[in-house]
Amino acid sequence: MQYFHYTSYLLLTTMLFLVDSATTQAVETSQDDLYDPLALYLTWQQDPSTTMTIDWHTVDEQRSTVIQYRVPGEINWQNRSGSEHEFPYSKRTIHRVELNGLKADTEYEFRFGEDSKIYRFRTMPEKLTRPLRIALGGDTMHHQDFFEETNRQVLKYDPDFVVIGGDIAYADGLPPEKQGLRADPETRQRTDSPRPGLEDGDNLWYHWFNAYKNTLITDENRVIPMLVTLGNHETSGGEAPYFFALFAMPGLPGYNVLDFGDYMSFILLDSGHVNSPGGEQRQWLENVLAERRNVPHVFPIYHVPIYPSVRELDDRRVVPVRENWKSLFEEYGIRVAFENHDHAYKRTYPIRNDEIASNGVVYIGDGSWGTVPREIRRNDDGSFEEWYMSEGAEVMHFILLTIDGTHQHMLMIDSEGNIIDEYPQTPERR
Ligand SMILES: [Fe+2]
Repeated sequence: MQYFHYTSYLLLTTMLFLVDSATTQAVETSQDDLYDPLALYLTWQQDPSTTMTIDWHTVDEQRSTVIQYRVPGEINWQNRSGSEHEFPYSKRTIHRVELNGLKADTEYEFRFGEDSKIYRFRTMPEKLTRPLRIALGGDTMHHQDFFEETNRQVLKYDPDFVVIGGDIAYADGLPPEKQGLRADPETRQRTDSPRPGLEDGDNLWYHWFNAYKNTLITDENRVIPMLVTLGNHETSGGEAPYFFALFAMPGLPGYNVLDFGDYMSFILLDSGHVNSPGGEQRQWLENVLAERRNVPHVFPIYHVPIYPSVRELDDRRVVPVRENWKSLFEEYGIRVAFENHDHAYKRTYPIRNDEIASNGVVYIGDGSWGTVPREIRRNDDGSFEEWYMSEGAEVMHFILLTIDGTHQHMLMIDSEGNIIDEYPQTPERR
């Protein structure tokens, strides 16, 4: 018996040694020499505790659409194949694989074949057994440098995932020759007219995915998943060719809901870019909210604000959103709604029936992750013009939302890492 134990021990240590030396070898050959796709993007289309959707982009390569994945420490890789489709106005191919049957709240390794760099992802918990950290915002890229600056601050907080409420790459659904950079990183000013065009073969989306790869992947190669919504700068003439090709979620018709167990739901809305905020989308939204009455954390996120900080309340895009969604948010007990589009930081008071009310909805935004901030409307004495504005600042920023039990806590952090606001000041139950 003892002999058996001893040989088992020898066998085990030999195996561990082999595994260890294989790992060491992989490190020594350097990840830099291994295959690495042009772009990489993680999101969810279904249960975030058991699935992961992985997109990657290639050009002029004969590579199969297969992901290999395993829990770290396992010797064997599992293979999963997917589908390919065209990157609009580009020679690139988009590869997409959805993994399912994964273990909840677990880190996985994945790669694109034996010669590939190894990346990681983390599934979400099935129940809220640990606090979740989510980075939110919108309007990400007047310039790639700006997007990267804010991303670097985001990564310091090791978020579980990121949610972007529209105006992603500012490509407007246009072919590359009609696209242009929106800001000069030197002067940090907008360059709307004339806007410097792109070089041949370039595309603003390449810049955006480069930034994602440069700054939303941790030192341990964990890729931060993302959810996105439509903004006006995803479309031209009501069409959003890049958006629907590049992002599996929200998918058609352009709005969707993602449930995290029975503890959290993100409602990804289209504030009038491909779909009207009224009609079918409004009916769908009401059903979604009604079905989630008992979910403690329900967050709508969308592009055009209901209570804007910069634009006027009667703005042509703002009015239909407010007329269709505000009363639903109030009726179904939404605590916080995330808005974008105005390129400033804002937090409203809690609002119900167009009045400040402790059981109202707080609107937080206003979308300046990577854009040149605009001036918030203020009176001569510096106070806000609008009664609903509680906090505001003209800075690039993101919102770090932590949910823990029934608590929701938000830290607002600018692109230099300063904390510019906190809500609520002391976490409290409602
Ligand atoms: Fe916008």
